[in-house]
Amino acid sequence: MKTINDFKLKKTEGIPISLITCYDYWSAQIISETDIDAVLVGDSAAMVMHGFESTVNAEIEMMSYHLAAVKRGLKNKLLIADLPFLVHRKGDQHVTETVDRFMKLGANAIKIEGAGSNIKIISHIVNSGVPVMGHIGLMPQSVNSIGGFLVQGKDDESSKRIIDEAKSLEDAGCFSIVLELIPAQLAKEITESINIPTIGIGAGSYTSGQILVLQDLLGMNKDFNPKFLRKYLDGFELIKNSLNKYNSDVKNNLFPNELESF
Ligand code: KIV
Repeated sequence: MKTINDFKLKKTEGIPISLITCYDYWSAQIISETDIDAVLVGDSAAMVMHGFESTVNAEIEMMSYHLAAVKRGLKNKLLIADLPFLVHRKGDQHVTETVDRFMKLGANAIKIEGAGSNIKIISHIVNSGVPVMGHIGLMPQSVNSIGGFLVQGKDDESSKRIIDEAKSLEDAGCFSIVLELIPAQLAKEITESINIPTIGIGAGSYTSGQILVLQDLLGMNKDFNPKFLRKYLDGFELIKNSLNKYNSDVKNNLFPNELESF
C-alpha cells in the first residue's frame, strides 16, 4: 500500500487493513519484506524505545530521529508519523512547521490525537495538502486527565461523544481514524456510520483494519499483557536465550571457532 487512496479502496472492497508501528531502520527493513499495509512512527516510541511512562515525553526531535531512521529502511509502504504531545496546541505556525518537517523527512501522512477543539487545525493541515489520520477513544497523550490507560466509551454519553468525534474527523477531511480501547460494538457502529476506514487497537474485530505496536506483537515486554494483545513471538525469551547462549559460548571458548576466524 503506497497511498491513502488504497486505504479508502480497501474499506470499499471490505479488505482488512494491517498497520504496525516502527521506530528504527532494521525493523523497517523487515517490515518492507512483509505484506503489512502501512507503518506508523508512533509517539509510543517514547515508552517502547525510551522507557518513559507515557507518550507525553515524545518530542519533535525524538520523533524526527525515529521517522528518519524508519524512512531509510522502509520500501513501498505508506508511512504515517504521530504529532507529539501538545504540538497541535501551540499555534498554527508551530504545527505547520512540525508537519512540514515530518513530511520532508519522508512521512506520507500525519496522525493527530483528538477531535473537538482540534478539528480546526486538522482541517487546516488537510487543506494544506497533508493527509491526516485521526485518533479517538483512548488518547494516550491525555492519559493524565483520563486517569490511566482505560477503556473508553463504556456508557451512552461517552459512546455518543466518540461517534460524534468520528463524524467530525471525517468531515474535517481525515483519511482514516484510529479507534483505541473502545468496546467492539461501538467500533462497529462508528465503522458503519462513516465512509473512511477505522483502524482498531483494542477495539475488537469490526473495524476496517488493525494496528499493533511492533514490540508488543513480538512479545518483547514480558510484563505487558493487555487483553487485546496477541503475541506472535516470545521475543523476550528468545532474545534472552540467544544472549545467554552467546555468553556461554564465549566463556567456554566455543566462540569464535576456526571458521569464524581469519
Ligand atoms: O503511538 C502509537 O503507537 C499509536 C498506536 C497505538 C495507534 O498511536
